[in-house]
Amino acid sequence: MAYGSVRGMRDILPEETPYWTRLEMGIREVARLYNYREIRPPLVEQTDLFSRGIGEATDVVTKEMYTFPDKKGRSLTLRPEATASVVRAYVEHGLHIREPFQKLYYIGPMFRYEKPQKGRSRQFHQYGVEAIGSIDPTLDVEVISFAWELMNSLGLSGLSLRLNSIGCAADHPRYREVLQDHFSRNLDSLCTDCLRRYEENPLRILDCKNATCRSQIEAAPGSADHLCKDCADHFAAVREHLDRLHLSYTVDPRLVRGLDYYTRTVFELVSADLGAQDALLGGGRYDDLVKMVGGPATPAVGFAGGMERLILVLQGKSATTMEKPRLDLFLATLGEGGRALALELAKSLRSRRISVDLDYRGRALRKQISQANRLGTRYLLVIGDDETAAGKGRLKEMDSGEECEVALTPTGISETILISGGKDGT
Ligand code: HAM
Repeated sequence: MAYGSVRGMRDILPEETPYWTRLEMGIREVARLYNYREIRPPLVEQTDLFSRGIGEATDVVTKEMYTFPDKKGRSLTLRPEATASVVRAYVEHGLHIREPFQKLYYIGPMFRYEKPQKGRSRQFHQYGVEAIGSIDPTLDVEVISFAWELMNSLGLSGLSLRLNSIGCAADHPRYREVLQDHFSRNLDSLCTDCLRRYEENPLRILDCKNATCRSQIEAAPGSADHLCKDCADHFAAVREHLDRLHLSYTVDPRLVRGLDYYTRTVFELVSADLGAQDALLGGGRYDDLVKMVGGPATPAVGFAGGMERLILVLQGKSATTMEKPRLDLFLATLGEGGRALALELAKSLRSRRISVDLDYRGRALRKQISQANRLGTRYLLVIGDDETAAGKGRLKEMDSGEECEVALTPTGISETILISGGKDGT
């Protein structure tokens, strides 16, 4: 019987992993520059954390969660996002007692039962940052600046940031009423999901992608026009700081984001290269979530981005920007003696930080050399009986075709490679 991977959950094959490694390194470097520390919550949480934290009326909770009972009948869920988990960890471990202000980041898989398509899968990966413990608008701007910094460091262009404020918990009922009033004039043209959203939380109608709902959504009143004074001032300050840092954005008055925990600032970074699933990342403030999860009232802001989508954009860029990792040395061998010596040399050279591979299948020399070429090796050394007996061989630099004689000792080989390859041999 042949097995396939589960629909919407795919293997990341070795040709692709260099993109992932590069992206992960880029994220960690920006996190270092911005002083965010890594947190690694588990992949599974109590279902209630998500249904309450993300919101009972959201698509994520109503349709997309992988929820199952454990052997004791407790309801568990594969995490559809990490903000709720990070907040749970912040409260559970008393991070707020040790240091109420925490800047955290994470990288890892998330699970949502959505219809798979380009840029959307059921197991996908997010990186994200959560800055917990301040309501100051400069923190919103730092988080947005982190996002731009990462995009710049990856050399991405053609991106735009959509920004809005949806106000605080006190503003939401007012804005819901305004929306209900707007949509009530044309209820017939709303899809069945939106009819439910109309009753449960009309803000969620604004997330709908359905074409007939869209025309009404585009005419809906914007949230930023229904903010209390504090929230309006906060939003103005966020924009002012963004302007000062020359971080570009456009205000999208109907951007509300699909999760219920948001308050005040919300934003999304979109790429023109992505088609329907164009949101590279999204985030905002969630000033009430820490309290909802059982901690003290603590404001917070963060964002998360989909790594598959970012990699799609990176792969679309010219191949020159993504260098394949190269093998330093391939040892082609002839005969048992050659292979035994090669195995020994490989071990010593690797401990000197030189990457080495050799033939393990007793293949013909010609085939070993084509394998070395496929691997894009920088150096090739053939070790046969003659070389073993003489204790010397010819090291070929593949790019230039130049050869030189080396002693078949770890030092003999490594000195030549390290000197001409400019590697630090520490
Ligand atoms: P979100 O908008 O649900 O926000 O997801 C953030 C990003 O994850 C999206 O912009 C997209 O790039 C990616 N993404 C979401 N679903 C999928 C999927 N099925 N396949 C591929 N990529 C996907 C959150 O998750 C919030 N926790 C963000 C946040 C952090 N807000 C505050 N802090």
